[in-house]
Amino acid sequence: MAKQTVTMEKLVALCKARGIIFPGSEIYGGMGNTWDYGPVGVEIKNNIKRAWWKRFVTESDNSYGLDAAILMNSKVWEASGHTTSFSDPKMDCKKCKTRHRADNLIEAHSKGTADPDTMSNEEMENYIQTHHVCCPVCGGFDWTPIRTFNLMFETSRGVTDESQNKIYLRPETAQGEFVNFLNVQRTTRAKVPFGIAQIGKAFRNEITPGNFIFRTIEFEQMEHQWFCKAGTDEEFYAEYKKKAFDFLCDLGFSPEHLRFHDHEKLAHYAKEACDIQYLYPMGWQELNGVHNRTDFDLTRHQEYSGKTLTYVDPVSGERYIPYVIEYSIGADRLMLAVLSEAYDEETLEGGDVRTVLRLHPAVAAYKAAVLPLQKNLAPHAKELCAKLKKLYSVTYDDAGSIGKRYRRQDEIGTPYCVTIDFDTLEDGTVTVRDRDTMSQIRLSESDLIAFLAEKCAF
Ligand code: GAP
Repeated sequence: MAKQTVTMEKLVALCKARGIIFPGSEIYGGMGNTWDYGPVGVEIKNNIKRAWWKRFVTESDNSYGLDAAILMNSKVWEASGHTTSFSDPKMDCKKCKTRHRADNLIEAHSKGTADPDTMSNEEMENYIQTHHVCCPVCGGFDWTPIRTFNLMFETSRGVTDESQNKIYLRPETAQGEFVNFLNVQRTTRAKVPFGIAQIGKAFRNEITPGNFIFRTIEFEQMEHQWFCKAGTDEEFYAEYKKKAFDFLCDLGFSPEHLRFHDHEKLAHYAKEACDIQYLYPMGWQELNGVHNRTDFDLTRHQEYSGKTLTYVDPVSGERYIPYVIEYSIGADRLMLAVLSEAYDEETLEGGDVRTVLRLHPAVAAYKAAVLPLQKNLAPHAKELCAKLKKLYSVTYDDAGSIGKRYRRQDEIGTPYCVTIDFDTLEDGTVTVRDRDTMSQIRLSESDLIAFLAEKCAF
């Protein structure tokens, strides 16, 4: 399987140099596992989110959008089980005092051949001892026993610091969808099966080295819950596995760089669960999850809130609590996969190497760059740029040689460079250069608009 010239170092350097992603709080020495999206990065990420929303909400017959509050009543997290069981198995290296996740130590040491998901804490400790798994930071072999730490960030509301004021930053967006199940169903008059989707921030107190934006303490999730009748759940689980996979392929992923990983050890709420893994620069890792959550969530929220969450079938009058098929994907983790998949270094005739992000045009920050061949063509180029900006995200560049300007656009993945030259003034045509093939065609300005619409659609 041919994969990627990209390394994490190259990607981080390109992202920083080209305004895609910067280290968080950089001028203060940074803050572990936080990253800021720059002018180019925020456009790419917004386009990824837009493509997901279009596929799973706008184009769907029976899925509805939601934007629930990040801060929720603390009872939500008791009902969901997060206050008691949302924790990671951590071990400290006694030599260098760094903290590590036992499951990650085992995964890295075994190069994916051992599956810590199927092990108890005791089994993980045994594995680490018998396989002599050393600290990845200092090389020492002196571990504390495993302890579990809850991953939720706590804060308090109000001005007094009493325990009853304790609230949490949500560790997943899913619970907003569950607690609004009947609000959405009633206001849309949706019939089961139907879906609720939302995109929003989630927070987890992760201590593990993050591999850039792969694992961060603040991240965005795109989650879709499909409410269906028990008995139909397995069919919809299979359907959402396929939909999740197809979405990635349509975004430009090679199917060879994706694989399903079925969970053997299931979460307390799950009947069946899988990840889609992507071949990241650091190896195969989870990109998204598809879970059959049964009626666990709605049943628990009904129990803890005391409010009925039963669905009444309008035809048969039957009352039941629906099952949920969850499809959940991190926007930042998808962004990392999109950038890794798109990154390429191409050796040109003459030996020069160009770096190019072969992004799907729909997710590229700019659909086109307008470039006047010479400075005195700038007024005409700016006029065309202003016209295009009403329709698409477009950038303008008149600094440096045309070759250097092409390279700058290649590095941020702009699919088309539109050059204004003296013929443009004569006949109203422009040169359109394709990022991937570097071939050029001439189009009239009106044909250019139709051309971009067709090429940049998702
Ligand atoms: N509601 C289910 C849920 O939250 P999860 O597997 O914990 O399940 C779903 O998270 C997705 O969210 C993951 O597949 C991943 O894409 C993303 N994700 C989870 N933790 C993350 C983190 N610390 N940083 C970035 N993305 C994360």
